[in-house]
Amino acid sequence: MIAAETTVKILEDKIRSHSARVGIVGLGYVGLPLAVEFAKAGFRVTGIDVNAAKAARVNAGDSYVGDIPSSVLGELVAQGKIAATSDFSVVRDLDTINICVPTPLRKTKDPDMSYIVSSCQEIAAHLHPGMLIILESTTYPGTTDELLLPMFEKSGLRAGRDFFLCFSPERVDPGNPKYQTANIPKVVGGATAACTEVGRVFYEQALERVVPVSSTQVAEMVKLLENTFRMINIGLANEMALMCDRMGINVWEVIEAASTKPFGFMPFFPGPGLGGHCIPIDPFYLSWKTKQAGIEARFIELAGYINGQMPHFVVDKIQNALNDAGKPVKGSHIHILGVAYKKDIEDMRESPALDVMLLLKRRGAELSYSDPHVPRLQLDGIDLQSQPASAPEADCVAIITDHSSFDYAKIVAHSKLIVDTRNALKGVAGDHIVRL
Ligand SMILES: NC(=O)c1ccc[n+]([C@@H]2O[C@H](COP(=O)([O-])OP(=O)(O)OC[C@H]3O[C@@H](n4cnc5c(N)ncnc54)[C@H](O)[C@@H]3O)[C@@H](O)[C@H]2O)c1
Repeated sequence: MIAAETTVKILEDKIRSHSARVGIVGLGYVGLPLAVEFAKAGFRVTGIDVNAAKAARVNAGDSYVGDIPSSVLGELVAQGKIAATSDFSVVRDLDTINICVPTPLRKTKDPDMSYIVSSCQEIAAHLHPGMLIILESTTYPGTTDELLLPMFEKSGLRAGRDFFLCFSPERVDPGNPKYQTANIPKVVGGATAACTEVGRVFYEQALERVVPVSSTQVAEMVKLLENTFRMINIGLANEMALMCDRMGINVWEVIEAASTKPFGFMPFFPGPGLGGHCIPIDPFYLSWKTKQAGIEARFIELAGYINGQMPHFVVDKIQNALNDAGKPVKGSHIHILGVAYKKDIEDMRESPALDVMLLLKRRGAELSYSDPHVPRLQLDGIDLQSQPASAPEADCVAIITDHSSFDYAKIVAHSKLIVDTRNALKGVAGDHIVRL
């Protein structure tokens, strides 16, 4: 048997010389940008995705992630720096693996670990000495040590001696022009101190700043704190919006003025509800786990309830605005602006626009939508193509996602009635504008 120090040294030397073969499992919004960063740093990167169509698109240099231009991906593929496959047997040739597979919730709001488990079973089948494995998928504290470690140690290999296991939360913010994978500090915690150290050396090759922490659980909890912090503060902003609505106060003006406080305040904004793959989901990973430890995560449950009310509130607001204009919602034409879950991206996962549209449909409204990033929308009996943003024939235009490319002056000029849930029309006066 090779001594543990030798195994670490061989792996670290390969990483430092960029001759280590890097593997990324799950080539989505997280995995593809990470693969590109390591390829740019000079590593040969192999992506593994069960979706063969995605692997084929990567190999054709055809990016499906907004932040990665096809020109950049295509160049790296042409240089032989990135290739993708659906075949896990390549793990035999890889030195490092980052796991970036989905972690959704089940209908019961319990964590769905099936993607992590199935990808780790495949990796475990080809585990070999001298590998570094890092889980990046957001998950409950304890996943790496309690679930992954036994799966990999079944082989007889030991973490920290024969292979190295870490958790490193992914913080990517799709569509953010300032902070992307390379310049977002990377927290990493290992199953042992040696694991953390190898993880640190690995990320330092491609990313600007690495923040080692003492355990995988701390690293897992960091991500949950960050996302729970956002979820709860958005919940507070939403509750403020509900209160201000009752009292006839403009909540946006309140938040803007409060933001002038140079310390102790950070603005969060209300909206039509939470969206995306992270904020509406991750805190429930934490509350699920804490329940097992006998602690009710009350802030999370409360914020979840308030945030979940927002699509209903927005639909009531639209209905009331139509009533005031003498039109019942039933049979009215409502044009939705923006269906992606946030500004300037194409991701529709958990988008509150979908809830708003289904609720309006249930109340008998006729729907159309406009979203430059989402050409077609199919869900629960709705099958629509994106239309021009300006819809003078619509009875009401509802701004649900405030994409930058919308021509708001034209929309204001050509709409009969507008419900603005994002303060996209800040400072614009008009009797036909109703704000959240
Ligand atoms: N999207 C974000 O902004 C973001 C930010 C931070 C953290 N995260 C977390 O990162 C993880 C990945 O999220 P994402 O947005 O990249 O998801 P995604 O759905 O965009 O990508 C996941 C990819 O994994 C593939 N996959 C599924 N099962 C697999 C398996 N068994 N083996 C190999 N590939 C498999 C899917 O085909 C898909 O291409 C999640 O845990 C998420 O919570 C996401």
